[in-house]
Amino acid sequence: MTPWGGRVLTFSTLDSTSRHLWRLAEKGAPEGTVVVADQQSAGRGRRGRQWHSPAGLNLYFSLLLRPRIEFDKLPQFSLVAAAALWHGLRQDCPGLTIKWPNDLLCRGLKLAGILSEMKPGLSGAEFVIIGIGINVNAEIDDFPPDLRDQVTSVKCESGSCVSLASLLPRLLEELFTFTEMFNREGLAGSIGELVNRNFYLKDKKIVIHSGNDKIKCRARWIDGDGHLVATLADGRQTSFNAGEAWLAKAD
Ligand code: BTN
Repeated sequence: MTPWGGRVLTFSTLDSTSRHLWRLAEKGAPEGTVVVADQQSAGRGRRGRQWHSPAGLNLYFSLLLRPRIEFDKLPQFSLVAAAALWHGLRQDCPGLTIKWPNDLLCRGLKLAGILSEMKPGLSGAEFVIIGIGINVNAEIDDFPPDLRDQVTSVKCESGSCVSLASLLPRLLEELFTFTEMFNREGLAGSIGELVNRNFYLKDKKIVIHSGNDKIKCRARWIDGDGHLVATLADGRQTSFNAGEAWLAKAD
């Protein structure tokens, strides 16, 4: 049982834990249902990218929530999940940071990614699926060559293997605690503080890819709506509710 009272459904292989859970959610699976797979044949990342999902090394799981929220709150769930994972992994991975809107990085290298998806209902979300991929026991050589200079894992950071079977329930407890906290106080309280204290992009020059636009700016903080606040080259302040942030190349 998960802390919400749902079931943990474990599979050796799935196309994607999020896709499978979506099918179950449409058939009425309750809040707190979790789907976890040993490997994924079509693991999905943001913006149509693939999520490298080899067998037995890492965690790939998806969590079903049925919150009463409006459509524009979806990006906030990625930040809530990122804060929960940060809290659960902070001792294994010293220097762990959160990269708006949905990544955990160590030494600037990707340790975990979050993909939040929502099925719209008549007055808000019918359900939300939070898909989480964490590089746990993979070594750098386990990744495709083109990713090796961009990724890390819990094992690479801590020097020791972590049991996937004990890490999952620990992280589900954290996700439950943080989603309850979010229901009570939103992002403006403790979650926002945690995210901002460990905000990878803080004061860095970045380029935001938002739709077809690429906007150069300097990241400042995450506000109570989960938006990235930044300053433009002319000093004006702006904010982004979604998009992808890249470190700007040195001029
Ligand atoms: C990203 O950083 O682009 C998000 C990656 C999310 C990957 C996870 S793995 C479990 C779940 N199932 C998927 O197909 N994707 C998510």
